[in-house]
Amino acid sequence: MIIDYVEYGSLAELPDDARRLMECAMESAHKAYAPYSKFHVGAAVLLADGTMVQGSNQENIAYPSGLCAERTALFSASAQHPEQAVVALAVVGHFEGEYTEALPCGACRQVMAEYELRYGNKLTVYCYLKGGRIRRIEGVESLLPFGFDADL
Ligand code: THU
Repeated sequence: MIIDYVEYGSLAELPDDARRLMECAMESAHKAYAPYSKFHVGAAVLLADGTMVQGSNQENIAYPSGLCAERTALFSASAQHPEQAVVALAVVGHFEGEYTEALPCGACRQVMAEYELRYGNKLTVYCYLKGGRIRRIEGVESLLPFGFDADL
């Protein structure tokens, strides 16, 4: 198994469509509801027809009832545009006035895997890293190796 990823030195180095998706995620971070952690996460999903759907973390006073930005974006995209394959996702953190690293949690990786299964294509994931670098990961298997599989 190959962990398939590349890193870009900055937002400016990304191809246009990827940069637009990351900028959409950056804007989305400001819509987060994160009064408990104060860690604002923005995500943006790119659909096959070019539509971008935003999501941000939505916290709750009963902590486990909240939801990550990535799943908020993916579920929102799927609920509004079920006929459109999900092709890419960008994620970024925002903390104490600065954009910062955000890598998807295990549960979000599992949900991404479900959309690959559903639409039959690989998902490209862009993660904002410390210092403004961007990591592009090709396919969820590179984020979740040896994930759950079954003939259900
Ligand atoms: N969070 C996300 O939205 N995405 C991630 O990939 C990791 C964590 C949220 C959950 C919680 O609201 C806050 O960040 C701190 O963990």
